Amino acid sequence: MTKKASWGILGMGVMGTSLSRNLAQKGLSLALYNRYLKGEEEGVAAERCQTYPELETAQPFEELAAFVGALESPRKILVMVPSGPAIESVLEQLLTLLAPGDILIDGGNSHFEATEKRDERFTAAGISFLGMGVSGGEEGALKGPALMVGGHAEAFGRVQKDLAQMAAKNSQGVPCLGYFGRGGAGHYVKMVHNGVEYAEMQLLAEVYECLLTQENPSWNLFAEWQQTESQSYLLGITASIVTYRENEALVIEQILDKTRHKGTGSWSSTSAIAQGAPATLMQAALNARFTASQKEYRSKMAAELTTINTKPPVLREITLKKAYDLVRWVNHHQGFELLKAAKTTHAWSFPLSEAAKSWTAGCIIQSELMQELTDLLEENQNLLESSRFKKCHQENRTALEELLTWGLKAKIPLPAFSAAWHYLMAISQADSSGNFIQAQRDFFGGHGLEWKNPKSNKGKHGPWHTKHS
Ligand code: 6PG
Repeated sequence: MTKKASWGILGMGVMGTSLSRNLAQKGLSLALYNRYLKGEEEGVAAERCQTYPELETAQPFEELAAFVGALESPRKILVMVPSGPAIESVLEQLLTLLAPGDILIDGGNSHFEATEKRDERFTAAGISFLGMGVSGGEEGALKGPALMVGGHAEAFGRVQKDLAQMAAKNSQGVPCLGYFGRGGAGHYVKMVHNGVEYAEMQLLAEVYECLLTQENPSWNLFAEWQQTESQSYLLGITASIVTYRENEALVIEQILDKTRHKGTGSWSSTSAIAQGAPATLMQAALNARFTASQKEYRSKMAAELTTINTKPPVLREITLKKAYDLVRWVNHHQGFELLKAAKTTHAWSFPLSEAAKSWTAGCIIQSELMQELTDLLEENQNLLESSRFKKCHQENRTALEELLTWGLKAKIPLPAFSAAWHYLMAISQADSSGNFIQAQRDFFGGHGLEWKNPKSNKGKHGPWHTKHS
């Protein structure tokens, strides 16, 4: 009789296959499942076992009950299928096949509220449900991803050792594996990771567009920056992307300028709105994707709203780099502030440094800056109030302003860089125009006024109304 497997991996797409290979390389015995879809998906799990030597001893299935039956009890199953209807249907079937004590992990990019509902449903059946954000793409999944887990603490304890083996290790050898609390906490942290990721990607896209305007742009610039404190995974891939050629032609120049997205960036932006947390960079990045997707309309409007095209002025590389270094701090600060607000709303108690630590390797937003932020957050410092940020701000603010001024002259949209500047201006303004908004709301809606100084206003306390005649 075949020995039962210690883990079941469900879904043999890119991520499911890479995570299976990762676990198999650590010596864990596996059962692999992929659905059977006549003419489309046939014998997929078996094919994976034949293709990858490390999966040679794994057991392949395309019948769900047989797959579940091949696992040691209590079972441990990692589900790697796309969020939405695909996962909903497979979870529904699993609910009828699993037994109390089993552990089910959703490793896809599910919305945290869906995870909370599933957690309740499975808990009622005695099954432990964990929602786990997995970051790092195909390579990360194979060599070590960042893992962000939420759900039953006791169940996490039972799989922690195996997950730690699977996860990336940072420069201190610490696994990039965080447990963030009950319900959808893990998927929430992954969602914010992706919001920060959207803005980091957009900033690099803006740098790319700035460089494109220059005569003989130096495409080695990204590789040079990568050798400095600006280092990051995304900067590293940018250095390759801008110089990559096929048949001697630059591939980047042949890619259609139309952007897609799968949801996590808009979920994090929506959640920031729900929390009342300013997350202006991730929202600017999201809107930039929306406008980029409107290729046909943009092409039409390019002819309708013609601007006088003057030759873009020269832009100093150092200006670009200094501005870039500054705005990344603002993006990360907004991401951590969003996490802080959500922690209060959802009564999660994880330290922010735990999120930062889980993002120091394996994931898309890993960077030298993230390591630095982890240290600051471990000391409970507010990022913008830290002396490190103040130094960065003092050294680079003028460059950011020079870049934005250049952008106006060159007629280049810089939504994420501008969002960072506006945020910095607004958050460091002791007296804002908020009084004016109050006055307007009270004028047309009788919403009441809060007085700046009740004593000098004849002792009027609390909400008060103006009487315009
Ligand atoms: C990661 C990525 C990964 C994926 C997202 C983003 O952390 O490994 O974020 O999860 O690339 O789905 O996708 P979109 O850009 O399509 O929204």
